Amino acid sequence: MKGVTIWFTGLSGSGKSTIAQIVYKELKKAGYKVEILDGDVIRTNLSKGLGFSKEGRDENIKRVGFVCDLLTRNGVIAIAVCISPYREIRDFNRKRIGNFVEVYTKCSLDECIKRDPKGNYKKALAGEIKNYTGIDDPYEEPENPEVMVETDKTTPEECARVVLDVLVKLHYLEKKDIEVSSEEEEKIKQRLKSLGYL
Ligand code: ADX
Repeated sequence: MKGVTIWFTGLSGSGKSTIAQIVYKELKKAGYKVEILDGDVIRTNLSKGLGFSKEGRDENIKRVGFVCDLLTRNGVIAIAVCISPYREIRDFNRKRIGNFVEVYTKCSLDECIKRDPKGNYKKALAGEIKNYTGIDDPYEEPENPEVMVETDKTTPEECARVVLDVLVKLHYLEKKDIEVSSEEEEKIKQRLKSLGYL
């Protein structure tokens, strides 16, 4: 099996984890070896104690990239889910890993603030959390991601389908493994076509 790293990047609340979970389940169902490295979890163990300065974030992303590289080399599909706001360090991981698919979950800051699933934006806007990405800390958009999904216009299921289709196109997955069969999925496909994703 060919390993690959699927690297999700985007603002907090932009839908990275939700979409990654759907992709993960689909790949598991199809029999692939898959692992998720989610920033929220990673920061409680592998990157415990690292902060959110540029140095802290870059170190976090390097560590996640290191593990993704090991997994990818061993035929695993590694799914990284980190804000990873700095382009340079994302590109560093891309070069290091090689089999790298960058997924940008694009979403307006207004919508992320509206969703605020962890209540962090409210705190950041009140000044209770400093250096919060999008509020008083930068986010550098990817210039040429393999996948860009606009999560304020498409459902998580639709976004996951786009990711899976790109993985097939790039020959990391067998088409038959993720073939659409149910009526529901066919509807998703039609809608994605009309939106120009497929
Ligand atoms: S990254 O910038 O180093 O890639 P990572 O994805 O690991 O960030 O962690 C982001 C999570 O940490 C957010 O989902 C949020 O819950 C929490 N967090 C705490 N402080 C901050 C902050 N200042 N900026 C962004 N996220 C923060």
